[in-house]
Amino acid sequence: MKPTTPPKTYRVKSFGCQMNVYDGERMGELLAEKGITPAPEGEDADLVVLNTCHIREKAAEKIYSDIGRLTKGKTQEKAPMIAVAGCVAQAEGEEIMTRAPAVSMVVGPQAYHRLPEMLDRAVKGERATDTDMPAIAKFDSLPKRKRRSPTAFLTVQEGCDKFCTYCVVPYTRGAEISRPYSDLLDEARKLIEAGAREITLLGQNVNAWRGEDDKGRVAGLGQLIHALAKLDGLERIRYTTSHPNDMDDALIAAHGEVEQLMPYLHLPVQSGNDRVLKAMNRSHNAESYLKLLERFRDVRPDIALSGDFIVGFPGETEAEFEDTLSIVDEVRYAQAYSFKYSPRPGTPAASMDNQIAKEVMDERLQRLQERINRDQLAFNAASVGKSCKVLVERKGKHEGQWLGKSPWLQSVWFNDEAAIGDMVECDLVEAGGNSLMGVVKSRADA
Ligand code: SAH
Ligand code: SF4
Ligand code: F3S
Repeated sequence: MKPTTPPKTYRVKSFGCQMNVYDGERMGELLAEKGITPAPEGEDADLVVLNTCHIREKAAEKIYSDIGRLTKGKTQEKAPMIAVAGCVAQAEGEEIMTRAPAVSMVVGPQAYHRLPEMLDRAVKGERATDTDMPAIAKFDSLPKRKRRSPTAFLTVQEGCDKFCTYCVVPYTRGAEISRPYSDLLDEARKLIEAGAREITLLGQNVNAWRGEDDKGRVAGLGQLIHALAKLDGLERIRYTTSHPNDMDDALIAAHGEVEQLMPYLHLPVQSGNDRVLKAMNRSHNAESYLKLLERFRDVRPDIALSGDFIVGFPGETEAEFEDTLSIVDEVRYAQAYSFKYSPRPGTPAASMDNQIAKEVMDERLQRLQERINRDQLAFNAASVGKSCKVLVERKGKHEGQWLGKSPWLQSVWFNDEAAIGDMVECDLVEAGGNSLMGVVKSRADA
């Protein structure tokens, strides 16, 4: 590549999970330290970071069409400088460099603290790949948080040791690591000082977080949540995504003890059938999963439950799929995500016999989503007549309309005077599948 002038503006496009959103923000902060500013809405950026996801084939292939769009009909001078980050970068580093000559930098999720050095090299015309997974956490070399928003993400744990047979995450994000307790409290304080009223703790298996508290005692996520709840100004705490096998008594109990911990739990089950769960290497069964949910409902009866499902795992029979429908009927999720199985290179399930035909997967997904939507609508409808606090996150589509979240993570919109970051008490008056209409009853802030 030819040497170029250093970029003045950047845009980070994050795909995939919330951990990528967090990483994207941190990459933005690193670039800002170099004097590069976010490109104004609607304008081209000099540097584009594609922060990619490898979880399903469709997500992974997206980057090539994005690169095509960014460079179409442009010479190197006119096209933006492109960095590929995230899980596709980790999984396909060298392949990206070969397949997409317009890409200057490829940087994995554990190496992006080195982005500034890579950028210096890219300006000189050198292409660089960094997909190391250094033992020293990247977090130590990241700038201090400055993010201004009422809601913030905080990565507490990364990586996965579970090796579900369909999943790329253990390969793209590496082994489970937990960030130290005191670092997390510090970062949370910074986020609160910058205006955060709600913090969502993130991890590929967030409830696998383990640390040592300020008195040297072993702590899990439940204890961390208790400590965060003591920080002045933090009104809401959430966490995602959890694994059934990492749940402990303290975390379950926290749902009944900590007022700031919101009544919402995202606990993926993937399938309702024990043979399929075993083939997936999930190491829980349908019954143990349901028992776990009961324990959450015991301490927090109004808890909103969410989950993830995969349909069409290799060998899944119609009867086995129906067990997944049954578990949905049993749990009555407030909200859930469902996906068609996507074979991922290098994972054991990709080479299993009996891959399921696309048409069968399509049909199963549709049937599953009908039930999930039914329950989501019912959950929202049951909220009508109640009132709750809504944390205002953004303006709505129409003039004077505002959007925020209920404690149960439902989107609530209302028409009234408000500003981003307000906490308002709303009467919930009407329900749709994806949102509720509220009427402001009082200003919780007043
Ligand atoms: N660590 C989290 C989820 C990580 S991936 C957990 O275990 O719960 C998010 C979701 O993507 C998974 O829960 C699963 O439902 C889905 N997923 C992962 N790999 C997939 C694949 N190969 N095909 C389809 N869906 C997949
Ligand atoms: Fe993937 Fe399973 Fe790990 Fe979740 S627990 S990230 S699904 S391997
Ligand atoms: Fe995707 Fe990586 Fe997250 S594969 S879901 S971006 S951990």
